[in-house]
Amino acid sequence: MAKREHQRNLVPVLKKAIKAGDKNFVEARLLQEEDWLPRNAGIYKTVEKILEREEVLLKELKIFLKKYQKPDIDAIAITNGPGLDPCLWVGVNLAKALSYFWDIPIVPVNHIEAHILVNWLLLEKNIKKFPAICLVVSGGHTQLILMEEIGKYKILGETRDDAAGECFDKTAKILGLDYPGGPIISAMAIKSRKEQRKIGIKLPRPMLNQKNYDFSFSGLKTAVLYSFKSTSKSTRTSKKYIIEMCSEIQQAIIDVLVAKTIRASKEYNAKTIILGGGVASNKELRKQLGKAIKQQLPKTNYLKPTIKLCSDNAVMVGVAGYFRFLKGKTKIWKRIEAKPNLRIK
Ligand code: KG4
Ligand code: ZN
Repeated sequence: MAKREHQRNLVPVLKKAIKAGDKNFVEARLLQEEDWLPRNAGIYKTVEKILEREEVLLKELKIFLKKYQKPDIDAIAITNGPGLDPCLWVGVNLAKALSYFWDIPIVPVNHIEAHILVNWLLLEKNIKKFPAICLVVSGGHTQLILMEEIGKYKILGETRDDAAGECFDKTAKILGLDYPGGPIISAMAIKSRKEQRKIGIKLPRPMLNQKNYDFSFSGLKTAVLYSFKSTSKSTRTSKKYIIEMCSEIQQAIIDVLVAKTIRASKEYNAKTIILGGGVASNKELRKQLGKAIKQQLPKTNYLKPTIKLCSDNAVMVGVAGYFRFLKGKTKIWKRIEAKPNLRIK
């Protein structure tokens, strides 16, 4: 399903993005069929070959390529991993087709690095306060990363099972809330501060005191399930229970994330702490991490993206691609492939 949606959405989004970025990019002329055949038949054959498994996309792309001339861009940044194999390939194959057709190179981008480097978008000048400790928290990943400079990373720890965002999503589902659960749990938790009487739900803080930088969130999900099942129907469907549970789920996740980030930052003498990923849009996490840094590491810089730039977006891929492009890390289209298990390094 996701692959199909990608195929449908890619060309309209591409068109909109190029139009927004390149003032001279206009609907140039509608080329005639003779312009393409037979002179350009070979070129088309290659585009068709690249997108042979993306029929829907190929159809749309052909119309697009006939209508518009090459925009004023130097390279194409594309996420090649980590992620879901079929979704990654749709993007990668589109990038390959465009790269070949427009004769510009591709810059492969690591999704996790993009979540980190999007923080540079709003900086007034390039910061050089390294090392940095990055906490990347999304629906698929929870990683603590040591960053020595742009482009040089070491994973210190990561989740052994569910990601933090996944935990928000799965526990929300147990409670009968919609997807994605993160924003809903966060909104419910805000209400809990106004509530007076408490039911007294207490959830575990998995691996909080372990002297490593790994995480585990599946036990938290199980604890929510047990609590839910062992609570009477009238209580567990009450607004009070849901609100209090949401607040406790959020706090359990935040406690572990903040404690481990601060400990890693102390151990590695971090000059900067960087937050990123969809879960970074959680207001309490942003606030509580900020407070802990202020109290325990007052000289440390704290970078977090604007809420809009936390969740997956193309801008972050552009920013990461830009830095890689400057370092000459481009590739020709033939040498790009999707890597579902790509690791930052
Ligand atoms: O980075 P992202 O957009 O996609 C992945 O790369 O996975 O992250 C999506 C995740 C989802 O699990 C979603 O529930 C979570 O980010 N999320 C939040 C909030 N907004 C989105 N989690 C907690 N609080 C939020 N406000
Ligand atoms: Zn993401």
